[in-house]
Amino acid sequence: MKDQINKPSSSAGMSRIDGRLKVTGAARYSAEFTPAGMVYGVLVGSTITKGTIRAIDTKTAERAPGVLKVITYLNSPKIAGYQVEAGKPEPAKGTYKLFYNNKILFNGQPIAVVVADTFERALFAASLVKAQYSADGHHTNLIDNTAKAFAAEGDGTTKRGTEDAWKTAPVKLEQEYVIPSEVHSPMELHAIIAKWDAEDKLTVWTKTQGVQDTRDGIATIFKLPKENIQVNSKFVGGAFGSALQVWPHEVAAILAAKVVKRPVKLLLARADMFTSVGYRPYTWQKIGIGATKDGKLVGITHHAIGQTSTYEDFNEGPIGVSRTTYACPNVNTNYKIAALDIGSPTWMRGPGEATGAFALESALDELSYQLEMDPVELRLKNYAETEPESGKPYSSKYLNEAYKLGAEGIGWNNRKSKPASAIKDGWLVGYGMGGGMFGAYRDKAAARAIVTDNGILTLQTAVSDIGPGTGTAMVAIAAEVMGIPAERIRFEMGDSSLPQAPSQGGSATTATVGSAVFQACTDLKESFQKLIGNGGTDHPDYAAVLKKHNLPKLEATAASSGGTERDKYAMYSWSVHYIKVLVHPSTGVVKIDKAVCVADSGHIVSPKTARSQIVGGAIGGIGMALMEEMVIDDRYGKIVNSNFADYHVPVNADIPQIEAIFVNKPDPYINPMGAKGMGEIALIGMAAAVANAVYNATGKRVRELPITPDKLI
Ligand code: MOS
Repeated sequence: MKDQINKPSSSAGMSRIDGRLKVTGAARYSAEFTPAGMVYGVLVGSTITKGTIRAIDTKTAERAPGVLKVITYLNSPKIAGYQVEAGKPEPAKGTYKLFYNNKILFNGQPIAVVVADTFERALFAASLVKAQYSADGHHTNLIDNTAKAFAAEGDGTTKRGTEDAWKTAPVKLEQEYVIPSEVHSPMELHAIIAKWDAEDKLTVWTKTQGVQDTRDGIATIFKLPKENIQVNSKFVGGAFGSALQVWPHEVAAILAAKVVKRPVKLLLARADMFTSVGYRPYTWQKIGIGATKDGKLVGITHHAIGQTSTYEDFNEGPIGVSRTTYACPNVNTNYKIAALDIGSPTWMRGPGEATGAFALESALDELSYQLEMDPVELRLKNYAETEPESGKPYSSKYLNEAYKLGAEGIGWNNRKSKPASAIKDGWLVGYGMGGGMFGAYRDKAAARAIVTDNGILTLQTAVSDIGPGTGTAMVAIAAEVMGIPAERIRFEMGDSSLPQAPSQGGSATTATVGSAVFQACTDLKESFQKLIGNGGTDHPDYAAVLKKHNLPKLEATAASSGGTERDKYAMYSWSVHYIKVLVHPSTGVVKIDKAVCVADSGHIVSPKTARSQIVGGAIGGIGMALMEEMVIDDRYGKIVNSNFADYHVPVNADIPQIEAIFVNKPDPYINPMGAKGMGEIALIGMAAAVANAVYNATGKRVRELPITPDKLI
């Protein structure tokens, strides 16, 4: 691909364009708009886990002060998109249908929405809604229900070479690994404000990773023309996959607004964030792995069983890592899901790969000790020069450099190869590493670039920014192409009426939307060159050119495709995490002393936000390793730690110095910037790196996350 931006960006040190708005509170999130006449919705959740509603008493709630309406399945208007065509059977599986019938499928399932003139009155009235149920027996424990697991569509079950070849290897092991359910836990709660502008015209402000996908989702559910729906999400206070779909609370607010003929705001409580917007599924995995005495992999067998709900088959394919990360002649993988009486899981940062990499990168570490070989050397010994499954060449892969940079950064040569043999100031010291990979994707997108005669460049595209600093990266790309300083560039997004953009997910935004911004700016620059004629400079004084030609502005809208290079090349981003831990021998407390995370994610478009992206993902990985665990009391099928006192996420005191290092070499094929994704690889492999460091420190191998002190003493 031509037109590479290989040189460091002129805006290398650029800070977040919206940083000031965010830290001063001037940024307005979805719950912070106040359309005239707005009222408040509060959901009532089921207190049983499985069964049917026999009766709901809404009378007391309806008589409470300020209450406008209580909506349940009994009086809910029919939702067009839920209805089954006459004569057709009810589909067996699908997304959850709000207020559809009297069936209870999980604990906390919304059974009513109460609408009142203030939030407090709605909340109080919600406490007065009483349901009577017929409860059925329920199942919420994956390990007790693995026998019920079934193969999901497109589950990644494959066989390469000989099945179970690892068993024939001279050095081998077979182990089981478990990760619990984890909850996204962004700072900003999910919230929506729904306002009907006419009988069939709707505006919403909602937390979403994609304003246009949310628009399309609402259009399907309510059978509205897409163009009648306006979705706004200007700022998003974190979303790690939880805002990639239209959830029941959004349907409830839209429905309620229609019924009461007023705009309705519905904000989830923190506890609802555990039941209502998905989570990373509890997953059991078993790996068999074998190698020759000099460390060449002979075979890997990777089986996994994850949980899903009874109404939807969620499948995140955690076994993919074993097929595509290392050179290995014999690989067979199998993935199944078991339906439990709990809300559906969903995508969560590094979906599939984060889970699979915990097992694979732990198993490799175990193998390295059996081989008495350095874990980095073991990985280099099995380095894949081409994509192991397809045989395609990589579009770019500098993982070997990443291994080296990280080893230097952490001081890997201080690592003792014998576990539990280093102690300092009463703490056991250990070093560990783990790798991550994720497909480097690029999708279709469009962008508009407008230069006005005051010399300001405005960029427009319908992307969301869930935190990585999308606007900052796009401004950096535009600054580079146009030669306009970043301070003179505006970025407009989070509005479904802007040029087409996909949801922010799968680490693809910079590659995808960046390509469109690059193209729009390139086209716009060409229009200026045409105006100027021969002899123009590469970066003219745009304002002067416009004035000279009596034009108020010049604009270009460009679309970019997913590209065809993917047919020829395997595209991945790579990471490696190095960890130094201290473990207290008598209390089992684990302190992360230092983390070094190296990313091979192509050219770094925006170094400051890229660093934040890696640090944020690393913190997520540390949480996964040491703290995060959704706990269900299986007797009642209820989540018992749905708050931040009991569901632990890392806080500042838990996080040491994290060094983010970038190989920073452009990928020649993925897009004009040479930029690959980094959102997912920031987390993938981190939990194993921590577990491996804990083993090195203590000699204790923890195969079930999180690594809490009780597992080490
Ligand atoms: Mo992510 S799980 O692609 O938001």
